[in-house]
Amino acid sequence: TSFASHVANQFTSYEKDRQMSSKQAIYATSNGAPQAHPYETQRAGDNGPLLLQDFHLIDLLTHFDRERIPERVVHAKGSGAHGFFECTNPIPDLCMADLFAEKGKKCPITVRFSTVGGESGSHDCARDPRGFAVKFRTEQGNWDMVANNTPVFFLRDPAKFPEFIHTQKRDPSTHLTHADDSTMFWDYLSQNPESIHQVMILMGDRGIPDGYRKMHGYSGHAFKLVNKDGDWVYVQIHFKSQQGTGFITQEDSASKSPDYSQKDLYEAIQRGDYPKWDVKIQIATPKQAEEMWEKQRINVFDLTHVWPQSQFPLKKIGEFTLNENAINYFAEIEQVAFSPSHLVPGIEPSADPVLQSRLFSYHDTHLHRVGANYQQLPVNAARTAYKFGNFQRDGPMAFYNQGARPNYLSSIDPIQFERRKVDPDKTHGHFIGQAVAFLSEIRPEDFKAPRALWQKVFDEPARERLISNAAGKMSLCKDKEILKRQIAIFREVDDDIATRLEKATGIKGYDGIADLKFNGTHNGMAKGAKN
Ligand code: HEM
Repeated sequence: TSFASHVANQFTSYEKDRQMSSKQAIYATSNGAPQAHPYETQRAGDNGPLLLQDFHLIDLLTHFDRERIPERVVHAKGSGAHGFFECTNPIPDLCMADLFAEKGKKCPITVRFSTVGGESGSHDCARDPRGFAVKFRTEQGNWDMVANNTPVFFLRDPAKFPEFIHTQKRDPSTHLTHADDSTMFWDYLSQNPESIHQVMILMGDRGIPDGYRKMHGYSGHAFKLVNKDGDWVYVQIHFKSQQGTGFITQEDSASKSPDYSQKDLYEAIQRGDYPKWDVKIQIATPKQAEEMWEKQRINVFDLTHVWPQSQFPLKKIGEFTLNENAINYFAEIEQVAFSPSHLVPGIEPSADPVLQSRLFSYHDTHLHRVGANYQQLPVNAARTAYKFGNFQRDGPMAFYNQGARPNYLSSIDPIQFERRKVDPDKTHGHFIGQAVAFLSEIRPEDFKAPRALWQKVFDEPARERLISNAAGKMSLCKDKEILKRQIAIFREVDDDIATRLEKATGIKGYDGIADLKFNGTHNGMAKGAKN
């Protein structure tokens, strides 16, 4: 057979790779040469040293030495599966993306769930947010929704992210995590009060969800949906578990398997009990977004805040089902590479500065973690992989290198263009201003939603669990000043929380945060400060 059909047979059929059984294979070195036995080595005589000519052994050891790719710097421990999205309530009036165009339309997906702070072998039942990333393989390329199981996040100033993450990981000197020493953990949080809403969720029942099937997902950020006329709205995207939600208490978490969530998800799919989520959106027109700021001081570009569901009700647009486990975990889940910048026509980022930073960071980390051609791996390749082209060529592992096509914009063999469908002047506001530096300030509104959690959402046993979880974590902090500050932040939410924590920890917190400075900078709530 020709070289072309040989290549087609050997390399381009990932499906074939997935179906391979040991019975079909003859043990061989990586260049395909059969080897008499896997355990043989070549020696100079019975007791002599090994021979450099023994490619089998060298092949074995060198490949083993390279088995690890860098683990994700965050969200390193995860689980995933494949499935499909189905549009139940089309929204062509709001969005031109093909996956929302028609009722019943399906789109293949891959989902990866994760914890955030721990390493790739860490415990599934950690008190931590959970990642919830979905790759939608639409007809116009891949759209990744890289979400969490909480509607808000710890910060709204993107430059804080790397430091924040450092404080939730190992101490550079003792190499201990906050499971043993929570000093850095609370030091960061007590200096950055805008984290309090997320801290309340983390210390509350949702801090340890009962596996991945029983939790919701949230975009957190506002995104823009654009229709074919160029009209657009802001949306928050929610994934609502049809399994309901569940949690594990701190006490019970100790007796669970380190791979509790992996086992739960894998086994449910194996037995045909396929988990499902509704996809819902909250919609705000640009005008409503402005009003939200003017009347309620909720900035749609601030992901420490949520949009009230009474004003912005959830609208279902579709649902997704996970009905297929990965056959090869590494190829299909470890190497899957999500990025908020993987967007398709009809879905655009908002100006949320944290989202804007993420648009850069994920692609950058994949170039480092997986390599320059990460988008060519079967799990990452767009459904349209063989239909689209560009002028990117070569680099490590370029197995889909666009053949004989010119690697520049040729006049002899020009690539086709799909013209822009909508007027960019219409979809992109004109951003004009003199801002060169931006750091958010603390506002009274930052404490409203956490207060509602404490007063209206949590019942008394849930409040008691939060106090016990937070006090337990605080008992591992070596610096009293940090805890006094953190209790003051809880006091801004509700005096009751602070008083109960004071009792549980034996530490008297500050009366409030008005006289405190944070990170050495201005605190918007300081007495006499302008908001
Ligand atoms: C993973 C950066 C905020 C959700 C990651 C990774 C990086 C990163 C570098 C590792 C990706 C990989 O190696 O595959 C950042 C930065 C942030 C930020 C710089 C803020 C400035 C957020 C927020 C959310 C989020 C706000 C959720 C709303 C996730 C998820 C993953 C992840 C779900 C795991 C994806 C997977 O399963 O592969 N982040 N992140 N991150 N991040 Fe973020």
